[in-house]
Order: sequence, then C-alpha cells, then structure tokens
Amino acid sequence: MEYAFEINQLSFAYSPKRGNVLHDISLKIPKGSIFGLLGPSGAGKSTTQKILIKLLNDYQGDVRFFGQSLNELGQAYYERIGVGFEMPVHFNKLSGYENMKFFASLYQRHIDFEKLMIRVGLGNAMHQQVGQYSKGMKMRLNFVKALLNDGDVLFLDEPTNGLDPANARILKDIILEEKAKGKTIIITTHLMGDVEELCDEVAFIANGKLLEASNPKALKLKYGVREIKVEYQEKEGLKQHVFPMEKLASDAFFQQLIQEDRIVTMHSQETSLDKIFILITGEDHA
Ligand SMILES: Nc1ncnc2c1ncn2[C@@H]1O[C@H](COP(=O)(O)OP(=O)(O)O)[C@@H](O)[C@H]1O
Ligand SMILES: [Mg+2]
Repeated sequence: MEYAFEINQLSFAYSPKRGNVLHDISLKIPKGSIFGLLGPSGAGKSTTQKILIKLLNDYQGDVRFFGQSLNELGQAYYERIGVGFEMPVHFNKLSGYENMKFFASLYQRHIDFEKLMIRVGLGNAMHQQVGQYSKGMKMRLNFVKALLNDGDVLFLDEPTNGLDPANARILKDIILEEKAKGKTIIITTHLMGDVEELCDEVAFIANGKLLEASNPKALKLKYGVREIKVEYQEKEGLKQHVFPMEKLASDAFFQQLIQEDRIVTMHSQETSLDKIFILITGEDHA
C-alpha cells in the first residue's frame, strides 16, 4: 500500500514548560483514503494537522510525505496540499470572490473557484464583503479555499462544524467526489455521523496519545453488540425489548412473541460510532 503520510513516534510541545501535547504518535495514512483524526476537544487533532502542513516544525519523531521527510520538503509542498483551518482566515474588507482570487494567485494552478462558490451556496454572496458573511458562509468559503489549488492532499479541520444539514450534505458530497479523483483527505472532527459517511480509516486520540487506529467497520465488530430491538403488543399497549442477535433463535420469549403474532416492529441495531467514541476516549471526554 502507498501512504500519503507515515508518522513515526511524533511528539510535540508548544512550550517546554507546559510539556508535550502529542506523545509518541505513530500512524500511516493510505493514499486515496479519507482519514479521520478523531478525539475530544483538546486531544491534539489540530496540532497534528498543523505539523503535517508544516506550520509547526519543532517536533520530535519522523513524518514522511510519500516517503520523503517533511523537513526536506520546500515551497513546492504547498502546491500539493490544500488546507481548511478550523478558524477561517479571510480578508473581511474584501468580497468572497476577491479573497479567493487573491489566494488563488498564490498558487501555480487553481480550480474554477466561481463554480465551486456557487455549488456551496455562495453564488449570491460572491461579491459581498466577507465581514458581512455569517459563520456558516465563512466556513463554506474556507472549504472553497482548501480546494483552491487542487492539491493531492486535503486537510479539513472540522469542515461541517456549524453548518445546516443541507449545506453539510453538499460539502460531504464534494469531499467524496475529491476522494473519487484519487485525493487523500484528512479530516478532523468530533461528529461521528460525518465519520460514518466519509471515513475509510480513523485514528482516535485523546490527551495527545493515539488510542486506536482502525476503520469504522472493524471498530463496530470489535466493540459492537448486535441486537434486535422489538416492539410488541401487550395488554397495556406497546412495549419494547432488546434481544441479543446470537441467541434469537433459541429465545423462548422471542418465540412466543412470534407465535402469538404480537411483534409490531423489529430493528437490528449496531453499536453506534458515538458509543464507540466514548468507549475508546473515555466518558470524561464525552
Ligand atoms: N498555540 C498554542 N499554544 C499553546 N498550547 C496550545 C496551542 N494550541 C493548542 N494548544 C494546546 O494543545 C492541546 C491540543 O490542542 P489542539 O491540537 O488544538 O486539540 P484539538 O484540535 O484536538 O481540539 C490542548 O491542550 C491545547 O490547549
Ligand atoms: Mg481542533
């Protein structure tokens, strides 16, 4: 397998006095995957991302981008990556269009950003000052900015945070289209719904430590309990019971409900990623 990033024993401190905020993190991010960097707030997700985009350089350990050490990469690296920061940075006095035109000019190559602005619902606000944009509009402009230079690798920090479901849907569709083009996408998020829909691989971090690196399906197998939730008719009205799936065939009560034709609804449920998130990172962070 080819890896976009190979991270080996990465540690980092913002200041020696406050100590490490990342401890010995080792990870591999496969090329062409959507990789979720997950964990409660303060875990070190943004710090990890900032190291990968060479914004923070003073780290311990080894980080490789397609086999090459990050330290050896020059300016050309920035042509290859697209970055959406957690806190959008724009020129408030300029319009959204002028902002994108300026940022596009920093790159050798750029996409048709007008088209993308329209797609994410900024068509009417294209020539409005960014200072007048709502938070959600700034987030969407930030997303356009991340895609601006058509990089091979996209970093998206909490891309759907604060967006309504319709706008979040548009962004998620675009993210999946970018993956289909062969791009590697690194997303930090605490929204497990997004993870479910987008991520091929995930890494959970808490307190700067890597707790688990896996994929959503394997996590569900590992932590999951397969259950059937049954709603059934009782004299007093509807009642619910949850049966473990393995023992269903031999469960006397379940048999009885079937024979007496009292089952109203029946749903299989798997452990949600939300539950798994809490199981892995600990209740304190929930
Ligand atoms: N610029 C900074 N200076 C000092 N400490 C920071 C700075 N940015 C983040 N931290 C600290 O580093 C830790 C990890 O933060 P961060 O990477 O932003 O977490 P996450 O993105 O997972 O919420 C936190 O304890 C946070 O307070
Ligand atoms: Mg963060």
